[in-house]
Amino acid sequence: MKSPSAVNLHKTILVLLIISLFFMVSVLPCHAAKDPAPALSVYVGSLSCKPCHEKEYASFTAYAKKSNSYRSIERLQKGLNDQDLKKCYSCHTTGYGKPGGFISVEKTPLLKNAGCEVCHGPGSIHVENAKPASIIAHPVIQICAQCHTSEMIQAFKFRPLIHGGGH
Ligand code: HEC
Ligand code: HEC
Ligand code: HEC
Ligand code: HEC
Repeated sequence: MKSPSAVNLHKTILVLLIISLFFMVSVLPCHAAKDPAPALSVYVGSLSCKPCHEKEYASFTAYAKKSNSYRSIERLQKGLNDQDLKKCYSCHTTGYGKPGGFISVEKTPLLKNAGCEVCHGPGSIHVENAKPASIIAHPVIQICAQCHTSEMIQAFKFRPLIHGGGH
């Protein structure tokens, strides 16, 4: 049998541990808030990836239809008004409507096709620091589904497989 004082000591230590845990949890977000806001990565276009990822770039531009996806808009452009054309941009270009994303062929020529960044996310920070952590390394199916919607899948009788359409 433990003496009552030893039991009390254990209880006190336990209480102190719990209090310090609460304290840590409550101050953690404060520290996080004091850090400068992480810089936002913006879209830079597939050409920026080429110098360091020759292999992926070469096979992407050779085989992926995405690398020419603006051409598909042009193919149907005649019958479309500006309003309709803008609807195409969200899937057939890179980052339309998002920070640093496609605006127009004249203003953002490097983003006119759907590039690396539609799957790997905006790459400006990664291009600068070349760290694996600054890019989406493993795109998930939810990313594909933003453009490969059920409507599109039905229209083309196609289901995206996670390793297709890239490189
Ligand atoms: C200045 C060189 C450089 C540029 C430019 C660059 N990367 Fe990288 N990238 C790297 C290095 C270095 C790694 C780490 C390779 C490794 O660890 O095997 C990497 C890793 C990656 C990975 C895999 C991450 C992982 O965890 O395995 C992806 C995906 C990637 N880059 C995509 C891109 C995309 C998309 C672009 C263009 C927006 C780009 N990179 C531009 C240097 C670069
Ligand atoms: C920003 C929109 C967008 C995202 C995100 C996207 N795709 Fe695509 N994808 C397209 C468009 C647009 C085409 C058709 C290009 C064309 O023919 O004009 C396409 C074509 C394809 C094709 C047809 C075959 C080929 O060689 O290009 C496959 C396969 C594909 N995508 C797979 C994927 C997968 C897998 C993902 C997720 C990892 C993904 N896509 C994410 C827009 C997107
Ligand atoms: C929600 C996303 C999305 C929107 C919006 C969208 N597309 Fe697409 N489009 C796709 C995807 C994904 C494919 C590829 C499907 C496949 O290959 O299975 C595709 C394929 C195509 C193709 C066929 C290319 C080929 O080689 O067979 C053409 C043409 C096309 N789109 C034109 C347009 C035009 C023009 C607009 C605007 C009016 C538009 N798309 C809007 C996602 C979209
Ligand atoms: C359609 C979506 C898609 C596009 C577009 C795409 N990738 Fe990927 N990428 C992937 C997927 C999926 C993987 C495999 C991830 C995994 O292993 O989980 C990958 C892996 C990578 C890797 C890691 C090494 C490897 O080959 O497995 C690098 C580097 C990379 N991509 C660079 C690029 C570059 C550069 C471009 C443009 C030239 C690009 N990707 C375009 C989907 C894409």
